[in-house]
Amino acid sequence: MIHHPTHCWSARAPVKSAAIANKVSPKKVFPVTDLLLNRTRRKATPIHMVTTQGLSALLRGLDKSQSAWIKAQGFSGKTGTHVTIPGKTGAIGLVLYGTGEESQQSEPFLPAKLVSSLPAGTYAFDEPVKNGELIALGWLMESYRFGAYRSSSAPEAQLVAPKRVDADAVRAKAEAVNLTRNLINTPANDMGPDALEAAIRTMAKQHGAKVSSIVGNQLLKRNFPMIHAVGRASDIAPRLVDMTWGRNTHPKLTLVGKGVCFDTGGLNLKPGNSMALMKKDMGGAANVLGLASMIMQAKLPVRLRVLIPAVENSVSAGAFRPGDILPSRKGLSVEIGNTDAEGRLVLADALHLADEEKPDLLVDMATLTGAARVAVGPDLAPFYTDDDDLAAAISNAGASTNDPVWRMPFWSPYDEWLASSVADLNHITSGGFAGSITAGLFLRRFVEKTQSYVHFDIFGWTPKAKPGRPMGGEACAIRALFQVVEQRYKQKASRRR
Ligand code: BES
Ligand code: MN
Ligand code: ZN
Repeated sequence: MIHHPTHCWSARAPVKSAAIANKVSPKKVFPVTDLLLNRTRRKATPIHMVTTQGLSALLRGLDKSQSAWIKAQGFSGKTGTHVTIPGKTGAIGLVLYGTGEESQQSEPFLPAKLVSSLPAGTYAFDEPVKNGELIALGWLMESYRFGAYRSSSAPEAQLVAPKRVDADAVRAKAEAVNLTRNLINTPANDMGPDALEAAIRTMAKQHGAKVSSIVGNQLLKRNFPMIHAVGRASDIAPRLVDMTWGRNTHPKLTLVGKGVCFDTGGLNLKPGNSMALMKKDMGGAANVLGLASMIMQAKLPVRLRVLIPAVENSVSAGAFRPGDILPSRKGLSVEIGNTDAEGRLVLADALHLADEEKPDLLVDMATLTGAARVAVGPDLAPFYTDDDDLAAAISNAGASTNDPVWRMPFWSPYDEWLASSVADLNHITSGGFAGSITAGLFLRRFVEKTQSYVHFDIFGWTPKAKPGRPMGGEACAIRALFQVVEQRYKQKASRRR
């Protein structure tokens, strides 16, 4: 018999309302997607891409004063540099953008850096534009600023969509990426489990999706014991949010995201520097919500389900403890080795629910382990799957969308490391080996029926700005996954017809 302490969250309401009274009122929200214009708009300042080799020929074709100006500015066509050149009226008549040596392969988001340096105005790259869609998307991704808590200015340089670029599709992707970033960047005092649920409901309303949630002690009644155990120490009740969208007759695609709104580590408290960034521990949830928004915006022929266990891994007298043995939705008893390995616990119950209806494709995303960050760093999204075709599709999509991913092994021989002497399994392993793999193997135990299952152990954060990726919360692999999903179901739909 496993004992579940129940909690009376409403008795603590005063604490919660005090927190709301302390809310900083949101500042101006920047409509970054206005920075991409449809091609119907004419008059734009041309941006001409030039290689170091091509510069002298170009200079010969310009006015003497213009070429003198370009030389005086020291512009040589080096990758990522630019120079603005006055036209006859004194306004900017032309922008030269350097792409370096012809042979160099440049990062497709690099030209988008221009959005941060060019003054307000309307610009268009000279045709033909290679990688037009990625350049336009990078333009919008680069212009993102998290402006909710301070007055700040955002870029105002507008880009006319290059030829053959579907501006609406690009805007939808950028909006999804920025939704993900906003959710991650919002601090835990305004993005607790309740606020995360509210954000999901807002998004569902926009797309006509349905949302239900199982909150607080109801988690025990409905058999989600591990979500309850992890979240019960917080003043804000833990919950499982379930959003569905699309026709029931379409193939089932289910996304599960780790929604740990703040990870203190629990009683195995994290030291200060490890805890500092833990508002991003709902990065998996934020990412699957961004992906869901792309899917719904594009009206892909799927029955979409998004499951978010939203909890705060907090510390109180009622907190779960190391050594506790928890029941799980699957029925296995789980020995708690460390309360800081909380993500896999809440995901396990949610994944088992997802698996019960045997979806065609099951994806989970989670800021699950520090070991993943050690293995591949913040730029790559490591993923695990036993489905080789799916893995290949994800890798290809990652390359073509400039959304890098890396396949990792679900290495079954390590599965036995999850053995426990007192319970059906332990949720962690000792020895310090392969931490991201063993966390993935724990999750895989809870997925039994689904044929195509993929787990992402993402970082969810850009520590140092890169082109198209400002510092802060980040969308990881969701543009790649959108392409996978789009191809998988467009094909299926046409085959059925
Ligand atoms: N949310 C963390 C993992 C994390 C830490 C992701 C830093 C990104 C950056 C997770 O809940 C955690 O604390 N994992 C522990 C597991 C360990 C106790 C087995 C870890 O990785 O140290
Ligand atoms: Mn943790
Ligand atoms: Zn965590």
